[in-house]
Amino acid sequence: MSYRIKIEPSGHTFLAEAGESVLAAALRHGLAIPYSCRGGTCTTCMGKVVEGDIHYPGGDLPEALDEKEDAVGQALFCLAEPTSNLVIEVREVRDTADIAPRKLPCRVVDMTQLNHDVMRLLLKLPDQDRLQFLAGQYVDILLRDGRRRSYSLANAPHDDALLELHVRNVDNGVFSGQVFGGMQEKALLRLEGPFGNFFLREDSDRPVLFVAGGTGFAPIKGILEHAFAANLSRPLHLYWGARTRQDLYLPDLPGRWQVEHPNFSYTPCLSEPAPGDHWDGRIGLVHNMLLADYPNLADYDVYMAGPPGMIEAARRDFQDHGLDPERLFSDSFEHALDGEPPA
Ligand code: FES
Repeated sequence: MSYRIKIEPSGHTFLAEAGESVLAAALRHGLAIPYSCRGGTCTTCMGKVVEGDIHYPGGDLPEALDEKEDAVGQALFCLAEPTSNLVIEVREVRDTADIAPRKLPCRVVDMTQLNHDVMRLLLKLPDQDRLQFLAGQYVDILLRDGRRRSYSLANAPHDDALLELHVRNVDNGVFSGQVFGGMQEKALLRLEGPFGNFFLREDSDRPVLFVAGGTGFAPIKGILEHAFAANLSRPLHLYWGARTRQDLYLPDLPGRWQVEHPNFSYTPCLSEPAPGDHWDGRIGLVHNMLLADYPNLADYDVYMAGPPGMIEAARRDFQDHGLDPERLFSDSFEHALDGEPPA
C-alpha cells in the first residue's frame, strides 16, 4: 500500500510505501528534506503535518519530540511513517548553500580494489549520524598532520547508509599512499563535508551529456544513481574516457544501467588502448568523441568531472560548438590532487 505525500509550499508530490519514513520516501524520489541523524534525536528534519496521519515505529514519540509539539502537528520526518495521504510543510534542500559542512568520524567498513590503481572505500558514520549531501558533492578526508585530501562521493543521497569513495593510487599520494600501503578495514578516519557545486540542476529539462575522465566517474555515478532513483526522464548520455581498458574500473555498471534505464546511453572511450585490450570501441580523447556525436551543443546541459587538462580542453571546444557556458557544470579534480603540496 502506498500513500501520496504533498510538500508545501513547493507543491512537490511523491509516494511513500507503508512502513517507509517520509524522509526515506522523499529521498528515493530525489527530493531532499534536511536531515542529520535519521534517528529521531537531532530535530533537523522537523516539519508539520497539515493534513493526514502518521505514526512512529514502536508507537512511541521519538526522544526529540515532545507531546506539545506532536499535538500541534510537528513531526520528525526521518521516523514518521504515513498512515494516510499527507500534506506536510517542510523546508526543502534545493542548493548546496542549504547544507552546512560538518566534521565527522567514520570507519572504513569495506575496501575493494577495483583495478590496478583504484580502491573503493565504503565509510560508515557513527550510528546516530548521516551526512546530508547532494549527489556529486565531495568530502575532505582530514589527515592527522592537518592536511586534507578531497574525494567525490560516488553514492547517491537515497543510498547513504555507507559513503562510497573511489581512491586512485597516485605517486606520493598522502592519503592514497595510506590506502594502498597497508590501511585495513575498520580503520578510523575523519572527514569534513559536503563541499562543491557539482550537482544535477533539476530545474532544467534539457538532455544531459556527462563526460568522466578516470575517477571522474565517481561523482557522475552518484548523480546518475540519483537521477535513476528520481525517475528523471531526460535523456542521459555518459562518455567515460580512460587510457586503457583496465582504467575503466567498473566496466559492467554503465552497461547494466543502459539495460535498466531506456533514457540512458553509454559510450566508453580509450585514448591509448593496450595491444592486449582487444578494444573495438571508440579511440581518442573523450570530449572529441562526444563532439563527433553531438556537433551542436546549443540545446544540451553538460556535466564533466576529471583531470584539469581534460576539463579545460573540453570547456573551450564545447563552447566553440555552441554550448551555453551557463549550462556547463564541471568538477575539476584539482581539489582532489593527492600528491605532496608545493613547498
Ligand atoms: Fe535527526 Fe530526524 S531527528 S534527522
